[in-house]
Amino acid sequence: MGFPGNRMRRLRSSDAMRRLVRRNSLSVDDLVYPLFARSGEGVKEPIESIEGCLAFSPDMIANEAKDVASLGIPAVLLFGLPDKKDQRGSQAWAEDGAVQQSARRIKDAVPQLAVITDVCLCAYTTSGHCGVVNKDGRVDNDATCELLAKTALSHVQAGADMVAPSDMMDGRVRYIRQCLEENGFDDRAIMSYAAKYASAFYGPFRDAAGSSPEFGDRRSYQMDPACSDQAMQEIALDIEEGADIVMVKPGLCYLDIIQRARQRFDCPIAAYFVSGEYMMIKSAAKAGLLDEDAATAEALACLKRAGADIIITYSAKTSAKLLTG
Ligand code: PBG
Repeated sequence: MGFPGNRMRRLRSSDAMRRLVRRNSLSVDDLVYPLFARSGEGVKEPIESIEGCLAFSPDMIANEAKDVASLGIPAVLLFGLPDKKDQRGSQAWAEDGAVQQSARRIKDAVPQLAVITDVCLCAYTTSGHCGVVNKDGRVDNDATCELLAKTALSHVQAGADMVAPSDMMDGRVRYIRQCLEENGFDDRAIMSYAAKYASAFYGPFRDAAGSSPEFGDRRSYQMDPACSDQAMQEIALDIEEGADIVMVKPGLCYLDIIQRARQRFDCPIAAYFVSGEYMMIKSAAKAGLLDEDAATAEALACLKRAGADIIITYSAKTSAKLLTG
């Protein structure tokens, strides 16, 4: 007595003991895999900036979705890479757009897989902004919300189970919820990118989507990385407006935000382990500086520990394989 000895180490003495006392563990059930849809036929091409990810034409995407489902991953998050852009981003709500066609094909082929669609205009507008730009060069909030609602409606009409607005306009969840209800889609969920920060970690994604703003930046709508209380306000508003799941994005630098949200709100919380975070690990691993699988597993475990129920990650397929052996 009197010596600390193995006071804390007793419960770390074997893998079995560590597993026994662990309160958080990542499961394949938590994962969402982002899928990129582009128009055309027979297309299956690598996305250069997000290593390991591919873009598919609608006729090819169902096979990939089957593969994802066979790994036990419950959901995919669909992004569109349009080949035509215009001022208003009209391809975003086109009935035959790549996302809409892909959602239909996936729901036909793999109905058990949840299809979530990213709802935003930045990949579709010539300005690269997440909304329509006014004559005075500002992103018009309410005009954008109307178009986002139209886009969300086209996605659920194509079979999407859940829409995920990632634009950060004020009130967009209310516009979308109302539009879905008016059109008989009160059964479809909304996962809002509620606390989405103006982050440099989206670089590889913007490269893939060609969605870097033509002028200015996204700081007039995405959150300031230095803010925390404001994230709670954003999340509370989205829940009040009808969001079913709220997201914090990016993940790793924002674990405090995930944890605060977990303590304060009861609804499911998603964390997006974004392209830059994913590529940081990949690049460091390539340079021989760290072990990719171990670093990824650690990052995802930390997102869980902070309080995320759902993790959106480009490593979902690899992680699922590692988790299920
Ligand atoms: C669209 C959108 C972005 C991401 C998801 N949806 C880019 C952005 O806001 O600039 C980023 C995803 C990633 O980096 O992995 N608004």
